[in-house]
Parts: sequence; C-alpha cells; structure tokens
Amino acid sequence: MLILSVESSCDETAVAIVDSGKKVLADIVSSQTQIHAKFGGVVPELASRNHLLDIIPVIDQAFSKANVSMDQISAIAVTRGPGLIGALLVGLQSAKALAYVHQKPLIEVNHLHGHLNAIYLHGPDEPVPVAPQYPHAALVVSGGHTAIYLLKTPYDIEVLANTMDDAAGEAFDKVARMLGLGYPGGPVIEKMSKNGNPQAYDFPLPRFKDGRLDLSFSGLKTAVLTAIKKHGSLPEGQAMLDLIASFQMAAVSQLVDRSLSAMQRASVSTLVLAGGVACNTLLREKLAQALNERNMTLLAPPKKWCTDNGAMIAAAAYWWIEEAKNKGYDPSMLQLNATSTWPLHTLKAPESMVNRAY
Ligand code: KG4
Ligand code: ZN
Repeated sequence: MLILSVESSCDETAVAIVDSGKKVLADIVSSQTQIHAKFGGVVPELASRNHLLDIIPVIDQAFSKANVSMDQISAIAVTRGPGLIGALLVGLQSAKALAYVHQKPLIEVNHLHGHLNAIYLHGPDEPVPVAPQYPHAALVVSGGHTAIYLLKTPYDIEVLANTMDDAAGEAFDKVARMLGLGYPGGPVIEKMSKNGNPQAYDFPLPRFKDGRLDLSFSGLKTAVLTAIKKHGSLPEGQAMLDLIASFQMAAVSQLVDRSLSAMQRASVSTLVLAGGVACNTLLREKLAQALNERNMTLLAPPKKWCTDNGAMIAAAAYWWIEEAKNKGYDPSMLQLNATSTWPLHTLKAPESMVNRAY
C-alpha cells in the first residue's frame, strides 16, 4: 500500500511516498533553515510563504524519485498539527486538494505521532529495523516539544514527563543564539562541543520537590547566560567550546536521567527515541550506555528521520489505516482542518473519528 505524505508544520516542506508505512520510496525535504537563519529562528509568515513556493515542486520530485504515478497511491496522509498554523495550512490544503481531485482517502496525522513512528522506516535496500513491543516508553525531543510518553498501544498514549518550560531543542537554539552561533543551534553546538571540556561548568540537574519527573531547560539557559556575564564578554576560543560542551552535557544528562526514571516508574524496558534532538550523538551514546547497563533497549531511527520529514507521517498514517480497515471504518476525512495545538495523549483510535466535527 503506497501512501503519499505531506508535512509542513514548521520550516521544512516535506513529501514522501512510503510502502506499507515502512519502505521509503521517496523522501523529499526542502528545508528553509537558510531563510530563517538570519532571524535566529523560524519566522512564521516567511515559513508559510516558502511552503507555498515549495510544495508543488516537492510533490513532483517525490513522484519522480519513487517512479510511481498517482494511480498507484492508496491514501494521502498529512500533518494536521501541532505546529505553525499558517505553515500547516499549506500542506493540509494541498493534500486535501489532491485527495479530492484524485478521489483518495485523506488521513490526518499528529506531528508528534509521526516522530514516534519514524522508528519503523527503512530505505528500499536497507534492513527492516527492530519494531518496538508494546508497552514501551518514548522520548520525543525536538525544537517544539520535549516529553516522555508511555505507549500502551499505538493510540493509547500517556504522558510520563513533560517540559515545564522550553523544549530541549529550543534550549540548544537559544544558547546558540546567545553565543552568535546561528540557527539551528543543535548541530553547531554538537560539532563545536567535540573540542570542549564538558566538565568545565557544573550545571545542576533540575529536580522538583514533589518528585515529579518533569523536565526543565530554562534554568540551564539562564545558567549559560550567567556564565557569559561572569566572563565579562562573549567567550571565545577554548572558553566558548568549554561552555557549550558543558551545556550540551547538562542537557543530555537531564534527558537520560528523566528517561531512566520514567521507564522505571512505568515498568518498561524499551525506549524509542524521536525528534530533531535525537540526532545528537552524545544523547544517543549516553542513553544507549545507561540502558545497556540496565539490560534495557534503546531504539532510535536513523538521523535523517529524526528531524522533520514526510516519511514519518506516512508511517503513522499506515497504522491508522490498518486499524480502520480491521474495524471496518472509513478513516478518510476531507473535512480536516489544521490545529496549532494537539497534545499526543489526546490521540484517539480511528473509530472515534467518524462523524467528528472540525
Ligand atoms: O524535530 P525537529 O526537526 O523540528 C521540530 O519538530 O521541532 O527538531 C528541530 C530541533 C532544533 O531545535 C534543532 O536545534 C535540534 O532539533 N537539533 C539538534 C541536533 N540536530 C537538530 N539538537 C541537538 N543536537 C543535534 N545534533
Ligand atoms: Zn518535529
């Protein structure tokens, strides 16, 4: 079953064609990072305008890459939210138009559910990855979200921990901005940290008195700002490298600490890693090591499917379509509308979406 998927929730215009929610035949991502870099972050209006320019060429490229025609497509999947409303609307209306004209089912996908399903993807010549058993935990760590979930089934999702303030990726982006390192901050901080001393600063691990597992990154961001002020000027050379390496270590240590505690509380032994910050090698290494020592398993998608992409949207839609098929429902919804907020734990199984008003 070939699914055409469209993702435009932030600053990537992404379209993919995926077979049975797993085998990626085409995965085209047109990134706007260069456009937003000079503003130090995503400018919503510019994002919408550039999605408009990119969406049709990106759809065309996906069909050429996969070497298939619209006749072979069984369903069209699209990100309905959460994300920037103007950006979402471009992808959603394009997908809706295609579904209407070509008479294909239109499937809504929660962007975070997409990130979680990236774990099932593989290239045509790549081995099929190990699929997580249910229940399992998942750490979704991106520029807009940072949370740890318990997945009892693909749709029965509980929040184990959430960030109280900034998302982890947002902290990487803000620290990079403070230090004049450009946007997005994650990749540049990771690269430069390799030559810094991660123990140079002892940034504390946030803890909540009531024993909550929640995460927090704004204190860490302020601690970096305080260190810059103490330094007297913007640190340069080794001083800069030591500061960002220590920041990265503190952010990663918190994510590892909270993931372990959440897994223990939920009595699960598998963690799925997802979202843009999951590209971070230190995070992957520290999580793998900590879980290994406890006989637990880490499942992480290849880096190319951790940041925003269309393939993960098709992967999430596939389970949705299968579930609807098994239960005899029509999962198509041409009345879809975009939503800027859509908490993952409010996701419902397809049967509850029949006759749903938007
Ligand atoms: O998932 P994503 O592409 O978009 C959102 O849904 O937010 O994540 C983007 C975020 C950015 O904040 C970026 O700085 C961060 O992921 N990121 C990284 C790395 N690569 C991307 N953070 C840390 N280390 C990286 N290597
Ligand atoms: Zn994302």
